[in-house]
Amino acid sequence: MCGITAAVGADDAVSTLLTGLQNLEYRGYDSAGVAVANGDGVEVVKREGQVDDLEALLSRRPLVGRVGLGHTRWSTHGAPTNANAHPHTDCYGDLAVVHNGIIENHATLRERLQSAGHTFTSETDTEVVPHLVEEYLDSGASVETAFRLAVDDLSGSYAVALVHEDEEAVYAAREGSPLVFGRGTEAYHLASDVPAFLEFTDDVVYLEDGDVIRVTPSSYEITDTEGSPVERPIESIDWNSEDVEKGAFDHYMRKEIDEQPTAIAQAVRGRTDGGAVALESLPDGAFADVDRVQFVACGTSYHAALYGAQLLRDRGVPARAFLASEYAMTAPPTEAGTVLVGVTQSGETADTLAALRRGASEGLRTLAVTNVVGSTAARECDAAVLIRAGPEIGVAATKTFSSQVATLTLLAERIRRDVRGDHSDSAPALLSALDRLPDDVESVLSETRAPSFARRYDDSDAYFFVGRGTAHPVALEGALKLKEISYEHAEGFPAGELKHGPLALVTPSTPVFAVCTGAHTEKLLGSIEEVSARGAPVVAVAPRSEKSVAEVADDVLWVPETHPELVGLLANVQLQLLSYHTATLLDRPVDKPRNLAKSVTVE
Ligand code: F6R
Repeated sequence: MCGITAAVGADDAVSTLLTGLQNLEYRGYDSAGVAVANGDGVEVVKREGQVDDLEALLSRRPLVGRVGLGHTRWSTHGAPTNANAHPHTDCYGDLAVVHNGIIENHATLRERLQSAGHTFTSETDTEVVPHLVEEYLDSGASVETAFRLAVDDLSGSYAVALVHEDEEAVYAAREGSPLVFGRGTEAYHLASDVPAFLEFTDDVVYLEDGDVIRVTPSSYEITDTEGSPVERPIESIDWNSEDVEKGAFDHYMRKEIDEQPTAIAQAVRGRTDGGAVALESLPDGAFADVDRVQFVACGTSYHAALYGAQLLRDRGVPARAFLASEYAMTAPPTEAGTVLVGVTQSGETADTLAALRRGASEGLRTLAVTNVVGSTAARECDAAVLIRAGPEIGVAATKTFSSQVATLTLLAERIRRDVRGDHSDSAPALLSALDRLPDDVESVLSETRAPSFARRYDDSDAYFFVGRGTAHPVALEGALKLKEISYEHAEGFPAGELKHGPLALVTPSTPVFAVCTGAHTEKLLGSIEEVSARGAPVVAVAPRSEKSVAEVADDVLWVPETHPELVGLLANVQLQLLSYHTATLLDRPVDKPRNLAKSVTVE
């Protein structure tokens, strides 16, 4: 959802900015640009298209300088055109601005500035910022004061950065959109997300809402809205630069599918000691007074939340997953004893943050289940549990779904124990299955027949995915993954719902993937018979012990035997591979599907 980056003090700011933009491209890839302040003024190069297109343009029109800004855009206000690409400048071209977020009062500000004689060259909300700064500079303010005053005029959410021709410095501010500072040895960095500068430094400072930072080649200072200095801790990130490189893989998505054994091992490591679940941020008994659990999440994370809610209900703990965007509108009545869990890979999804804030404002205790230490969700919630998947760059979430499900399995077991005050008899078997899960995923990866299924069905009219219990969210996730990266029509249903409507769509050209966890198998067999009778090819995704499924389905994608609660996670890996191979056969841009961006920081 737009990536901003800045480099201060680098010998070649443009190459540092391009590295950052390549690493941030998962946030948007409609258009990209850079601005450099080189002592002779501010120069901007920008264009519609991806960062590679910008790089090609820069090789013909090189920019030189030690201080600069970069931006990769996911359009909200105005089409992806050269004019709407960031950075945006003032009327004189003395300063340049990049922005991530939405400026809600941009129409009023634009009208005011236009009546004062300012000429706008884009349709973006962002362009009001350079003109506001210009207005304050014209009235005699310093660059710093003009920037602060301009930021004060904005309402909405923003991470915004500015360079001005008179100073070897970058000014930046945040309110509601992420902004991190990277303290390198050769240069200082600013970015929407840490992967932008992982190649240069592990030392980061997470800026907070209201913070304004001024960065020069030799120093940085963080102040609050009043201009008083504030201390923010420097944290060391344990991700490394290889994590954000594609290596020998054609796509990040493929790399991240392959990383799942490691990601799951990291999620589980040290948390299952002695047959009990230990979650570092949550002391024993932390959930003793919990009566019910509500989850809020979006997209793939919502499917993980549905999975987690099912696990809790199976343990007798009332639990329900809500789509965050709906919860933020109409939260259910709150009751004491409810814990609100936000499941969010990035920790920055605006809908999920809005839902968490809504719940917190009603007095609910909040917990973030997230991949990003220092993210807004991690900082704003009462507590956070990290899924420890490592950075995920492909727009389609893969390894983070598996890590979320593994973490939510631990959380469900832990909540159950705190609520009931005893260990469940089934906990040891589940926890040892979790320890074996990385090997099981490895088997799926090495033995999968998903590529041949992708070839067999690549000219289908539509694809359906069905399942019951924990297989239902897996069916939803299988369909979401396929549609977002292959652009093929795909839907997921609870298997029992087929006969209440969707069956009308089933034909010999609509393969049905039936996810079988080993629970409710007889009922799933009924659903398979129903679609088979209408001529649809059926592929079961099931553990080998489910022989009856193999008898009624046309074919099977097998998964290793494991605890029934974890079969869905393994089945999902098969479906990820099916989506990936279908999308590559159709020659789709797997890592950058059209119209999407990874971190959706607008509501
Ligand atoms: C789909 C996908 C999205 C995200 C959703 C929530 O592959 O990645 O559906 O799951 O935008 O993002 P987070 O988890 O960052 O809150």
